[in-house]
Amino acid sequence: MTKVLKEKNGSDILTLAIETSCDETSAAVVRNGREVLSNVISSQIDLHKKFGGVVPEVASRKHVENVNLVIQESLDVAGIKLKEIDQIGVTYGPGLVGALLVGVSAAKALAYALKVPLIGVNHIEGHICANYIEDKTLTPPFLCLIVSGGHSHLVHVKDYGIYEVLGKTRDDAVGEAFDKVARAMGLGYPGGPLIDGLAQKGDPEAIKFPRVYLEADSFDFSFSGIKSAVLNYLNGERQKGNKISLENVAAGFQQAVTEVLVHKTIEGAKQKKTDTIVLAGGVAANSGLRKLLTEEGKKQGLRVKYPSLTLCTDNAAMIGCAAYYDSLGGHRADLYLNAVPNLKLGEKYVRFSQE
Ligand code: KG4
Ligand code: ZN
Repeated sequence: MTKVLKEKNGSDILTLAIETSCDETSAAVVRNGREVLSNVISSQIDLHKKFGGVVPEVASRKHVENVNLVIQESLDVAGIKLKEIDQIGVTYGPGLVGALLVGVSAAKALAYALKVPLIGVNHIEGHICANYIEDKTLTPPFLCLIVSGGHSHLVHVKDYGIYEVLGKTRDDAVGEAFDKVARAMGLGYPGGPLIDGLAQKGDPEAIKFPRVYLEADSFDFSFSGIKSAVLNYLNGERQKGNKISLENVAAGFQQAVTEVLVHKTIEGAKQKKTDTIVLAGGVAANSGLRKLLTEEGKKQGLRVKYPSLTLCTDNAAMIGCAAYYDSLGGHRADLYLNAVPNLKLGEKYVRFSQE
C-alpha cells in the first residue's frame, strides 16, 4: 500500500527528487517543499565541452553511470535513510528523451520499492519553484520570466501549479542564442557565462544590434534575428580584416537581448497588475539581465527577485519543491510514467505515446 503523505498529522514531508533532463545528474532531499537538506549536482559540462554542446547519447550514458551514486550522496549529505523518504519527485519533461528516461526509471524503481507516491515534475515548473526555495516568503501571484538553454517563457503564476503563459520564444531559446553566438565568437561551451564575463568589460553601446519586439501587443520573443546579426557582423569584420572587440560584441549582444526581455517582462507585470517579478532558468544567472530588470522594475515600483546561481541552473532541489506543491495539489504519477520530451507548462501526466 502506498504511504499516505504525513502532512495531515502535521509531520514533515521528505521528498527525494531526481533531475536528469539535460547534462546535469542531480538528486536532492527537500523537507516540506522549501527546506533543502541536500542538492547534489554532477555536471557533465566538461564532457560535452569538446563537442561544443550537449550530445544526447553521451548525456544519457553518463546519467546511467551517475544516477545511483548521486542519489546515494544526496541521502548521505541530508543524513536521511531511504526508508524515511515520503515521496519521489522526478523530472519527466521537457528535455532530452534518453536523459529523462534515466531519471524516470530510477524514480519509478524507488517509488515501487519504497511504496511511496511518485510525482512527475515539469522541468520548467521546477525552474519557477527555485524561487520558492530562495525566498521562503514568496507566494503567488507573480510574473516569472523563465530563460534557459531550452526555454524562454513569460508566465503569470496565478497560484501554485496554475500558470498562464503570456509569451514564449518563436525560434531560439535565449540560452541557445547565447551559446550559438559564443560558438561563433570562438568561445567555449556553455557560452552564456563566457559572454556575460566578456560583456562586463565591453561597451554595450559600441555595436548596435537589432532589438526584436515583434507585434506591439505580443509577449512572444524571437532571438534568431539578433543571433544572425551578430554572426553577420563577425563575418563582415573578419572579411574586412578588422580587429574585433569580443568584449564589445558580447556587451552589445547581451544589451540587445536583455532590453527586449526586460521590456516585455515589465509590460507583462503591468498588464497582470502584479507587483512581483521573478527570474528563473540558467540565463537568470546573467548579471546584465539581473541588473537591468532590477533597475527598471524599481522605476515602476516592482519587486524583482531571482535565485542564487546554483538554483538558476538545473538542479534537483527545485524539482523537489515543485513535487511537493504538485502532491499537495493531488497530482500523482503511476508506474506507467514516461519521459515526455515536449511537455508543456501546465500539462499533467501526458503520455508519450499520445503525442
Ligand atoms: O536552465 P539551464 O541550466 O538548462 C536548461 O534547462 O536549458 O540553462 C542553461 C543555459 C545555457 O544556455 C547557458 O549558456 C545559460 O543557461 N547561462 C547563461 C549564464 N549562465 C548560464 N546565459 C547567460 N548568462 C549567464 N551568466
Ligand atoms: Zn533547465
